[in-house]
Amino acid sequence: MEHPTARVREIVLETDRLLLRPWQVSEAAVQREMWTERDPRVPPHRRIDAEGHPTLEDVEDWIRSWSQSGSPRVLAAERKASGDVIGYCGLIPNTDGSDDEPELAFELLRRVWGQGYATEAARAVLGWAQASGYRRLWATVRDWNGASRGVLAKLGFVETGRVDPDEVHGDSLFLARDL
Ligand SMILES: CC(C)(COP(=O)(O)OP(=O)(O)OC[C@H]1O[C@@H](n2cnc3c(N)ncnc32)[C@H](O)[C@@H]1OP(=O)(O)O)[C@@H](O)C(=O)NCCC(=O)NCCS
Repeated sequence: MEHPTARVREIVLETDRLLLRPWQVSEAAVQREMWTERDPRVPPHRRIDAEGHPTLEDVEDWIRSWSQSGSPRVLAAERKASGDVIGYCGLIPNTDGSDDEPELAFELLRRVWGQGYATEAARAVLGWAQASGYRRLWATVRDWNGASRGVLAKLGFVETGRVDPDEVHGDSLFLARDL
């Protein structure tokens, strides 16, 4: 099996409306904007803290380190018509730390929600994962996250019955999809 991590710098997936390709440092503001937009129920380590971290410079440093390490395999989603980056979609190690059955991850700027972009991007990532030899993908989603659950259902992910209970931030549901 060819491991996509080694080839992340070259990965470009194309859909009708999107290119999925590695992040550029100049696009750090898009990532930070997504951090500022996160739902208040998202746990604090994934939200901007009281000191303003991650700062724009923090995010720029992450992108530089990703381009050197070839990780993570989370691709920027660029709209072909306008050339703007609207979010990301890709694969991350699953909750148990295993890379053999990675987890699908996606997030978009709020202003583009509801136009089918996440489903379109994720379908391309599923095809890429299948072509790379993966047999199964995971997804974790908070029980309150209707939009993400909607995307995962359209992609054919099914609930496995595994749940990490969390009274504060919402239970995390574990879904899987065989490829
Ligand atoms: C999840 C997310 C990426 C979806 O992006 P999107 O481009 O709006 O998604 P799509 O338009 O492709 O599909 C969303 C589907 O969910 C449905 N949906 C949206 N909100 C919903 C809700 N509250 N309850 C149920 N279904 C909902 C939509 O109707 C749509 O289905 P449809 O095409 O059958 O109408 C976006 O909401 C986001 O970035 N959320 C924050 C980050 C996040 O939650 N990431 C996933 C973590 S598991």
